[in-house]
Amino acid sequence: MSNYKNLIQTLEDGILTVTIDRPEKLNALNSLTLSELKSCVENLLMDDEVKGVIITGTGKRAFVAGADISEFTELNELNGRKFSERGQEIFDLFENCPKPIIALVNGFALGGGCELAMACHIRIATENAKFSLPEVSLGILPAYGGTQRLTQIIGKGKALEMMLTAEMIGAEEALANGLVNHLAPTKEEGLQKSMDILHKIFKNAPLSIGMVINCANAVFSKEEDGYQIEANSFANCCKSMDFKEGAAAFLEKRKPDFKGE
Ligand code: COA
Repeated sequence: MSNYKNLIQTLEDGILTVTIDRPEKLNALNSLTLSELKSCVENLLMDDEVKGVIITGTGKRAFVAGADISEFTELNELNGRKFSERGQEIFDLFENCPKPIIALVNGFALGGGCELAMACHIRIATENAKFSLPEVSLGILPAYGGTQRLTQIIGKGKALEMMLTAEMIGAEEALANGLVNHLAPTKEEGLQKSMDILHKIFKNAPLSIGMVINCANAVFSKEEDGYQIEANSFANCCKSMDFKEGAAAFLEKRKPDFKGE
């Protein structure tokens, strides 16, 4: 595993836990941290030992309090577009990762932090979590995919209210809106819940898991026909060894031993 300045990684039982570690800045995403997140997701894609991921922030105050505002003074029309496209590209890697990624939101998830959580497949929030896309209060707008993903996840009316008011919502409201899947009283309980969900997922066929993620993402793609992708993915599953194993295990009344092949 690579060593990073602003990310702590631990690997146990197939679960890579990635902790964003800039507590003095409430884990704000500066350019280096974004680069490290990109490298981290690229590496875990190729690491056979990693079957699923939990991403969280150091401490109990913040998941990520946004993009690092101290780097905003350099932004202009030209590099502003690049800034947005780079963030979008990196968060797309999370969304399209064929291994399940859970965001454990342990405090503030603001701006880019909320956008990172939304790019993950499942979100679990501790009871002190706070979510906001407050960019309009800074004279910009959510640009790491936030305008698109918030609208996809919670619907247009609630998403517009959140983005236009720039106000924070708490964990209960995030749960009621469908922005998060589960609440946990503490970070420790959130970690346990995340691990429990991942272990349930790990019982299933890895190729099928990756393809379900891909099909669900296709719902929101303008270029792709999700039904076509679903049918193609099903055909691919049918030629896999894991499908033979899954069916045989059911008929032989035993647990399947999936190999991801
Ligand atoms: N970028 C850069 N630094 C940030 C940051 C961000 N997004 N969010 C917090 N920090 C820094 C603060 O500048 C402060 O650093 P300092 O001690 O060197 O001054 C440190 O983190 C602690 O934050 P502070 O504001 O003192 O804590 P607080 O409890 O008073 O307030 C927040 C917490 C999250 C409400 C407040 O920090 C905030 O509004 N942050 C910006 C959120 C935001 O707009 N994010 C979207 C950016 S697009």
